[in-house]
This record gives sequence, C-alpha cells and structure tokens, in this order.
Amino acid sequence: MLKGKKIILGVSGGIAAYKTVILARLLVKSGAEVQVIMTPNAKEFITPLTMSTITSKPVISDFFTANTGEWHSHVNLGLWADAMVVAPATASTIAKMAHGVADNMLITTYLSSKSPIFVAPAMDLDMMRHPTTVHNLELLKSYGNHVIEPTEGELASHLVGKGRMEEPENILKVLSDYFATTEDMAGRRVLITAGPTVENIDPVRFISNHSSGKMGYAIAEECANRGAEVTLVSGPVSLSTANERITVVPVTTAIEMHESVMARCEESDVVVLCAAVADYRAEQVCDKKMKRGSTNTLTIKLVENPDIAKAVGAKRHDGQILVGFALETDNEEEHARAKLEKKNLDMIVLNSLQDKGAGFGTDTNKVKILERNGAINAYECKSKKMVAKDIVDIVVNNYLKK
Ligand code: PMT
Repeated sequence: MLKGKKIILGVSGGIAAYKTVILARLLVKSGAEVQVIMTPNAKEFITPLTMSTITSKPVISDFFTANTGEWHSHVNLGLWADAMVVAPATASTIAKMAHGVADNMLITTYLSSKSPIFVAPAMDLDMMRHPTTVHNLELLKSYGNHVIEPTEGELASHLVGKGRMEEPENILKVLSDYFATTEDMAGRRVLITAGPTVENIDPVRFISNHSSGKMGYAIAEECANRGAEVTLVSGPVSLSTANERITVVPVTTAIEMHESVMARCEESDVVVLCAAVADYRAEQVCDKKMKRGSTNTLTIKLVENPDIAKAVGAKRHDGQILVGFALETDNEEEHARAKLEKKNLDMIVLNSLQDKGAGFGTDTNKVKILERNGAINAYECKSKKMVAKDIVDIVVNNYLKK
C-alpha cells in the first residue's frame, strides 16, 4: 500500500525518537520515499546521519544550508508529500502545530502541507494528561489531523502511564490502512452539489445564503482521494481544488444547478446534494438598479425554484445511491426524515444551527446521518474533512459494498 508514496517523517525532540529510526526503516522497506525533517532538539536524541543513511536522503532541519545558502522550501515539501507523520510529537511540537507557531522547518512544512497528517505523541504521563495537551490534541483532531494515540507503559521517567509513542509497526499499519481505504471508490462516478445559489433581483442585489461550499468540497476531495471520478456542481464560492479527479462545473442560480445536475445524474453511481439551494427566486429580474420608491415598503414576488434533490430522487436508477443534506433549526430529526422520504433518498446528513460549530461557513460540522432503514449515526463536532470521511464511509460500507 505504501509503495511509491511520498512520506514526510517529522521528528521532534523526545527520547522516543530512537523508535522513529525503526519507523523510517519500515517505511523505506514498504517502498515509500521518505523525507525526514528534524527539529533542532530531535538532533540531540538521534543523529541526522542515522536517518539520512536509512532513507537515502539528506535530512532537513534548517530553513537553508548555511555554507551553500541552499533554501529548503517548506511549501514545495508540503505539496510533494502524500502524507506527513510527526513521530514522536512532543508536547511542545503539538502545541506549536495546534497554534501555528512556525519557528522551525517541521512546523512550517506542517502548515504548508495539503496531505493527511498523522501525529504520534510521546511524553511523560503528566504532560500527556495536562489540560493544555489534551486541548491541543483536540484542536489538531478538529483540523482533520489523525492522532495515533500513545500507549501505556513504563516511560523514560520510569513512571508508568500513558505517553509511550505507539510502536513503529503499528504506526506503519495505520498508514497502510489509510492508503488501503483510499481506493475503495475506484471506478465510481460521484456527482456532488456544493455552495449556495445566487438569485439576482437586479444587477446589484440578490437572494442567497451563507454556504461557503466547504462541506461539499470536502466530500468531493474525500471521494476523489478514494479513487472516484467526481463532478462538483458548485455555486459561487471562494474555494478551488487542484485534484485531478474532480471536475468543477460552476453555476450561479438554482435553475443552472438543476440543469447541470439533471444532465449528469443518470451516469452517476452516487449523488450527494450538499448545496444550499435557494427555494425561491424573483419572478422578474430588473435589468436596471431598482430605485427607492415613494412608499416605505417594497414587495418582490418570488416564484419557486426546482427542487433538485426531489427531481434526482424521482428519476433514480437501480443501484444509484442518493445522499441529501438537511439544515435545520428545530424538530431536526423529524424534518430531516420527512425530507429523506419526500426526496426519495437513501440517507440524509442532518446538521442543526442549534449545535455549536455546525452548519454554514465553519471549518467544522456536527452531523447525524439518518438512513432510510431507520438507522441514525450520530457524530461529535469535527472538521468538515473528517465529517466527509464519515459520510463516505457510510456510503461505501453500507451501500456500495452490499
Ligand atoms: O457550505 P458550508 O458553509 O460548508 O455549509 C454546509 C451546509 C450547511 C450548506 C450543508 O451542510 C448543508 O446542510 N446543505 C444543505 C442545506 C439546505 O439547503 O438544506 P435544506 O434542508 O433546505 O435542503 C434539503 C436537501 O434538498 C439538501 O440536500 C439540498 O441540497 C436539497 N435541495 C433543496 C432545495 C432545492 N431547491 N433543491 C435541492 O436540491
């Protein structure tokens, strides 16, 4: 699974760094190309020579090589990698990652990285359970990073408790499993709607909503990373994707989104309707800016937009999986289930504006996935990236594999 994968192995300054030597060896033996980055303190525990010998690549530690002036680009490194593993991750490195304290090459690379990040903490038990560390690890998880929990046992201090870095063989397994699941949508065609629609009233004003597109784009990335060919019909957002497996079809209005989706849904194995579509548009769009009138009220007549999800549900074909969303403010489950039935969907992802960190604009979401068979899968608040993974896991495990 790791053959040909490009892995950045970030080493920070803890005694568990001696185990990272084994991890580097295992990664290389699995066929991965490994670039080691060491913090200054890591070099007090193991030498760069050990790591560069094992990985056949010079270790990077400083922003540039002093005697040649050669600049090490953290941006290029971040883009090069298929995954970054920080092992051991000390309390200090975890805190810097959580708060963006970019004072060494490891952290700048982490902040530039577009790949999945795996963090293997190692520290003494009291540092591990200190509220600061607990909070920082929660922050890292909320950004979508994968924390490989430390184990319990005798620590360097000879105290016994949680804080031992996970064994290199198990870290290798986490990575192998991660890359194994990424191909479980290979050969599938996925159609996704994302973002808001914008309905003009005149050349200056419009009706829209707060959707940023983050949730829909995260689902598109997740599906594409797992091997699917994705068409993303996107309302106006400030996001973009460099993923070669994602084709973005930009639209503005609900009518345009409806046309784009209907033209493509027949050929799709999975359709995910994540867009916040305006249910109504102005009956007349003025071609000139509307002027203030002599009365203190203004009435704009609105007409109904097409219900895209309902239209897709009405012409679904055998084996096609339909996933809707429901953004609710009250009687959430009841409303969501009614939409699932009415639109003939397999599952609906419920997010409520009553929940902190859920819904529009945020980098996080808190969802429940309601299935047609009555099942309800509830999740804690997490990054939209991780929510996307939960949704796609259900699609794959409960529908595509059956
Ligand atoms: O974009 P973000 O800032 O990341 O925010 C994400 C989100 C809050 C927009 C997303 O998680 C979400 O909840 N999307 C659906 C919002 C919504 O419009 O829900 P709804 O309950 O009004 O619609 C129910 C379903 O029907 C949705 O799948 C919707 O895409 C679809 N629909 C609605 C109206 C319409 N005319 N056509 C549709 O297809």
